Amino acid sequence: MSTEPNRPSSLNGGTTPAGTPRGEAARDHLWGHMTRHSTWEHGEVPIIVKGEGHHIWDSRGKRYIDGLSGLFVVQAGHGRAELAEAARAQASELAFFPLWSYAHPQAIDLAERLAHHAPGDLNRVFFTTGGGEAVETAWKLAKQYWKLVGQPGKHKVISRAVAYHGTPQGALSITGIPGMKAPFEPLVPGAHKVPNTNIYRGPEALRDDPKAFGRWAADRIEEAIVFEGPETVAAVFLEPVQNSGGCFPPPPGYFERVREICDTHEVLLVSDEVICAFGRIGDMFACNDYGYVPDMITCAKGMTSGYSPIGACLVSDRLFEPFRHGTTTFYHGYTFGGHPVSAAVAMANLDLFEREGLNARVAQNAPVFRRTLERLLDLPIVGDVRGDGYFYGIELVKDAATRETFSDDEAERLLRSFLTPALLDAGLYCRADDRGDPVIQLAPPLTCGPAEFDEIEQILRGVLTAAWAQL
Ligand SMILES: Cc1ncc(COP(=O)(O)O)c(C=O)c1O
Repeated sequence: MSTEPNRPSSLNGGTTPAGTPRGEAARDHLWGHMTRHSTWEHGEVPIIVKGEGHHIWDSRGKRYIDGLSGLFVVQAGHGRAELAEAARAQASELAFFPLWSYAHPQAIDLAERLAHHAPGDLNRVFFTTGGGEAVETAWKLAKQYWKLVGQPGKHKVISRAVAYHGTPQGALSITGIPGMKAPFEPLVPGAHKVPNTNIYRGPEALRDDPKAFGRWAADRIEEAIVFEGPETVAAVFLEPVQNSGGCFPPPPGYFERVREICDTHEVLLVSDEVICAFGRIGDMFACNDYGYVPDMITCAKGMTSGYSPIGACLVSDRLFEPFRHGTTTFYHGYTFGGHPVSAAVAMANLDLFEREGLNARVAQNAPVFRRTLERLLDLPIVGDVRGDGYFYGIELVKDAATRETFSDDEAERLLRSFLTPALLDAGLYCRADDRGDPVIQLAPPLTCGPAEFDEIEQILRGVLTAAWAQL
C-alpha cells in the first residue's frame, strides 16, 4: 500500500479484495496502456464500472454517452446478455484449445463466415488475439509468401504518415507516428511512409478537387515503390479510413488507383480494418464500401463487439496457395489466437448484427450523423468535420479561415488540460487526440441513432464554445 503523502484519495470505486481503495491500488499496481501516469498520481483514476446500451458509468455513479464504443470496439452496445451467454456456454463446452495443428468448431465456423463477408478470393483466415498481431501477421506472411514464390528480396512495406497500426515491433514500424516509435528504435527496418489522404491539409492546389487529390496521394505510393525498387517491396498497408490524425476517408478513385499500382509492381495490398470492419463504415468489411479487393484484410475490435478479444488476418487464395504443399509451414502463431470463447462470441455478435440489421442501420443513419456533426462548423474553433459511417473526426483550429493550427503548448493545454476533462464533465466519453493536428474522435455504438447524434452534438457545442472562450 502507498504511504506517499499528497496523493489524491480515491473518492470511490470500492475496495479490492485485499481491502485497498481501488484508486489507490490502481496507482500502486496497475500500468495503464498509453497512459501518462502523472495524471493518475495527481488526479483521480477514472474507473469505469458498468455499461448498458450506449452508456457507461464511472465509479462515482456518473453516466456518460460512450461516443467511442470503448475504443472503436463495442459495435452492438454494452450489456448484451446474449453475448455474455455465448461466452458462458462455450467456456462450459470447450474453454480452450489451440489452433496449433488442431481445429475447433468455433474457429472453423467463424473462418467460413468471415470469408463469406470478404470480397474476392479472401477465403483463408489466420486468427490472432487482436489488431496489432493481425498486422504483424500480415507483414510476416507477405515476406514468406514472396520468398516462396521466388522473390525473396520483397520485404519492405509502405504505409502512410500519422497512421497507427499497432504496437508489436513490426506493426510499430508500419505505424507513421514518429513520437510513438522513437523510444523503441531501432525498429524493424524497411518500413517507408507516404502522405495520407488528409485533403484538409493537402497541397493547396488540390484541396478543392478530391479526385485530383486522390490521384496525387495514390501516386505517392507508386513513387515510393519505384524509389525503393519494386523488387524490394512486399506490401502496402492502408486503412480504408485512416483513424490517426482524425478520420481521413479515401478520396474518389484513390483505392482504384492504389490497386492498379500494386498490381503493376507486384506489391500486396493490405486493408487494415482493425477499426473500419464490422459495420463501422457500413459493410462487414470497409473495402466493400469503397469497392476495392485487397490481398489481405486485418481486423479485430468490433468482431465480438468487445465481449471477448480476437483478431484475424484474412488472406487471398493466391497468397495461401504456396503454403498448401509439402512441408511448407507458416511458423507463426498465438496460444490464444482464435480462442474458442472469443470465436463463439464473434458468431453470436454477427448473428446479432444480422438480426438487428446493424449494417443497414449504419448505411441509413450515416448521412444524418454527418449532417448533425457538420452543424458544429459554425463554431470558430471547428476547422473540419470528416469521416464516414459511424466514424468521425472534428479538427480544431485557431483560425478557421487560414486553417492555422495550435502550437504544441496550446494543443497540450486545449486537449489535455481543458477538453478531456470538460467533455467528461459534460457526460461524453470520446477522444481528444493530438497525434496529428488536434482532433476530437467519435465512433459511437452502431445501435445509436439520430437522438444520440443530437445529444453528442449538443455536448460538443457547449464544450467547444467554452474551449474557444478560454483560449
Ligand atoms: C488501424 C489499426 N491497426 C492496428 C491496431 C492495433 O490493434 P490492437 O490494439 O488490437 O493491437 C489498431 C488499434 O487501434 C488500429 O486502429
